[in-house]
Amino acid sequence: MLILAIESSCDETSIALVRDGKEILSNYVSSQIDIHAQYGGVVPEIASRQHIININPLLEQTFKDNNVTEKDIDAIAVTYGPGLQGALLIGLLTAKTLAWIWNKPLIGVNHLEGHIYASFLENNIKPPMLTLLVSGGHTELIHVEEHGKYKLIGKTRDDAVGEAFDKVARLLGLPYPGGPYIDKLSKLGDPNRFNFPKAMPNTFDFSFSGLKTSVLYKINDLKNENVELPVNDLAASFSKAVADTLVSKTIKAAKELGLKTIVITGGVAANSTLREKMQRECDKNKFALHLPSMKLCTDNAAMIACAAYFKYINDDYIKDGLSIGAKSRLPIAVR
Ligand code: KG4
Ligand code: ZN
Repeated sequence: MLILAIESSCDETSIALVRDGKEILSNYVSSQIDIHAQYGGVVPEIASRQHIININPLLEQTFKDNNVTEKDIDAIAVTYGPGLQGALLIGLLTAKTLAWIWNKPLIGVNHLEGHIYASFLENNIKPPMLTLLVSGGHTELIHVEEHGKYKLIGKTRDDAVGEAFDKVARLLGLPYPGGPYIDKLSKLGDPNRFNFPKAMPNTFDFSFSGLKTSVLYKINDLKNENVELPVNDLAASFSKAVADTLVSKTIKAAKELGLKTIVITGGVAANSTLREKMQRECDKNKFALHLPSMKLCTDNAAMIACAAYFKYINDDYIKDGLSIGAKSRLPIAVR
């Protein structure tokens, strides 16, 4: 079964062709990061306009490079939420138009489900599993009980973890998005120099705004003392505080739920402090840890195609695809 998938929920326009939920024929991603970087964050109106510019050339390239026509496509998949309303609309309208004129099923996919399914593309894993989804917009700990059945174990009560990385990076004078810069500098710094707080130890929910404020106060104190900012040590200590929180909660939840498989996905899954610590703890507890490759961790349409494939074969999708609306908020799991 060949699925054409479209993703446009934030600042990446992506089109993918995936066979049987596994074989990626192509997965083109057009990133707008350079455009938004000058504003220090994603500007929704600009994102929508860029999707309009990018989407048709990406579609044409996908068809041309793979030598396929609409006759080869069995279904169309699209992200319909959560995300930026205007950005979602561009992908959704494109998908609806193609589904309508080609008379193909349209499978609406929750973006978060897409991130969960990124791990199914490369690894032979099966639910049940515990997924830690960490990106610029999300911080969620999700128990994947079976295909299409999820339980939310914990989520952030304020900033998403990627957002916290980006905000702290800005305090340190680093470019946007700051997560990769903090990661790089952390490797040169002392993670134990500053003892930043680890919030909410007694729940599976997360909070990063206190941690961010405490970095701000530390920076202000250091500036008042007229010392040169120890950027590497600040980055390393901040990264350690984040990784300690994410790893300890994930491992504790896996133990309590009796789960042996852990997956980390989303842009922050690239973070080396997080990856190393999680691997160590998983080895210690004999848990299997899966980290999708970076191109599948960040926003892409192949993960949307994979989620759509499982929805299709399990007959678990909205049949009247043309009735689907873009949803800026769209939870996948209730407690
Ligand atoms: O999943 P993603 O590409 O986009 C969405 O937010 O959906 O995630 C982007 C986020 C940004 O906040 C970025 O700073 C963060 O992931 N990020 C990192 C690293 N690479 C990307 N954060 C920490 N360490 C990294 N190596
Ligand atoms: Zn995402």
